[in-house]
Amino acid sequence: MTIDVVILAAGKGTRMHSDLPKVLHPIGGIPMLERVIDTAMLLGEVQITVVIGHGADLIRDRFADRGVRFVEQEQQLGTGHAVAQAVPYFREGATVLVLYGDVPLVRAGSLQSLLSAADHGPALLSVEMANPAGYGRIVRDNSGCVQSIVEEKDADADTLAIREVNTGILATPGALLARWLPELSCDNAQGEYYLTDIIGRSVSEGIPVTGVIASDPLEVAGVNSRAQQAQMERALQHNHATSLMNAGVTLLDPMRIDVRGSLECDTDVSIDINCIFEGTVSLGKGVQIGPNCLLKNCRLADGTKVEANSIIEGAEIGEACTIGPFARLRPGTELATGAKVGNFVETKKAKIGEGSKVNHLSYVGDALVGEAVNIGAGTITCNYDGVNKSLTEIGDKAFIGSNTALVAPVTVGAGATVGAGSTITQAVGSKELAVARSKQRNITGWQRPSKKAK
Ligand code: UD1
Ligand code: CA
Repeated sequence: MTIDVVILAAGKGTRMHSDLPKVLHPIGGIPMLERVIDTAMLLGEVQITVVIGHGADLIRDRFADRGVRFVEQEQQLGTGHAVAQAVPYFREGATVLVLYGDVPLVRAGSLQSLLSAADHGPALLSVEMANPAGYGRIVRDNSGCVQSIVEEKDADADTLAIREVNTGILATPGALLARWLPELSCDNAQGEYYLTDIIGRSVSEGIPVTGVIASDPLEVAGVNSRAQQAQMERALQHNHATSLMNAGVTLLDPMRIDVRGSLECDTDVSIDINCIFEGTVSLGKGVQIGPNCLLKNCRLADGTKVEANSIIEGAEIGEACTIGPFARLRPGTELATGAKVGNFVETKKAKIGEGSKVNHLSYVGDALVGEAVNIGAGTITCNYDGVNKSLTEIGDKAFIGSNTALVAPVTVGAGATVGAGSTITQAVGSKELAVARSKQRNITGWQRPSKKAK
């Protein structure tokens, strides 16, 4: 089957009151339109056309590398007019699937069912709603075939009572759309060219219309306001939490976790409250995450423990490491098995070897740290001279005394010791002791100053 997807994203999103086009607002950390594009791409070899209007340049820029075509709808004259902009690009014999940039959680499975039902005529995705206000109602005949869709503003009292509504999502042979769309009229309450009017056309030509009912209202819900965006966000997070728990993860409170991207967990992972996961995060067996942590694009191997209030980004963490509380691991951090990074420690582009410890109040950046190294409290790698970044190398089993400044580029050999308070500017050889601080002087008989009389 040749599938041409048309995604409508030209509307202004007035009710968002935002400078950002509505479809670029995120749900679960991912712009709504990106979610729709990602889902469409799951359907196979699809051609995707996005109809844009308001904020067109921002949308183009954002998705420039996604291999989708953009067509501009200069005036928003209705959903039928919007789809008509894509007609010139329909491929021979294609089935056209119409999606919406502001209906972000639609599932590939439902779309597959819809496409299979649209071989010879239109198939539309509908949903039953307790409160159908605002939606087009699905009118079926006695035998259950879809007869028409009546927009709320055009509906009489009987029609308004129908609870099955149009999600707007539909599939149909492209050739039929190409024939019907130019013939639409805008003689209706909103003066718009309604895509939904093709249903009536189909019925009058004796081409049956199939209605596929979506099982979950969330997947066909649209976002028109910040409040709806927030509701959808909560619903999505609730689903994330449920599937994590079903997969064997302990969530101390499923209401207080946010996954803005994808989180993969092995068994017996435990996550305390208020944690945020961004981008792609994976947690190995038995990993424990304390409260208030932010993890972004990182992998933590089995048995690692992250204590409260830590931030980990762009890092690769080995097995049985201990991180935090209050640690900040920046991109390029790699911890080998059993390494420890403690409170108020910042790392960046730092490889820290097996069993090494940076326990307190340090900055380790642009550094290669060997195994079983001990880095004392308050140690700083001075990696930046105001122009260039330089590397600090520390060999296995070295001991760096507290409050040491390592002025890079510099190396400390294996087994070396650096005395506390040193400013190290030259290489320290293996097993040497380096002390680089002024010698202590004790002055006997020293008189403290006393307060002057006024
Ligand atoms: C549409 C359906 C309605 C359905 C509802 C579900 C029509 C006529 N009605 O109504 O049956 O219940 O969706 O949410 O199709 N858009 C464009 N260009 C336009 C007009 C719209 O790109 O010229 C985009 C909008 O940005 C929006 C989407 O299409 O994302 C829906 O348009 P809107 O006018 O809001 O349709 P509804 O009135 O919600
Ligand atoms: Ca409308």
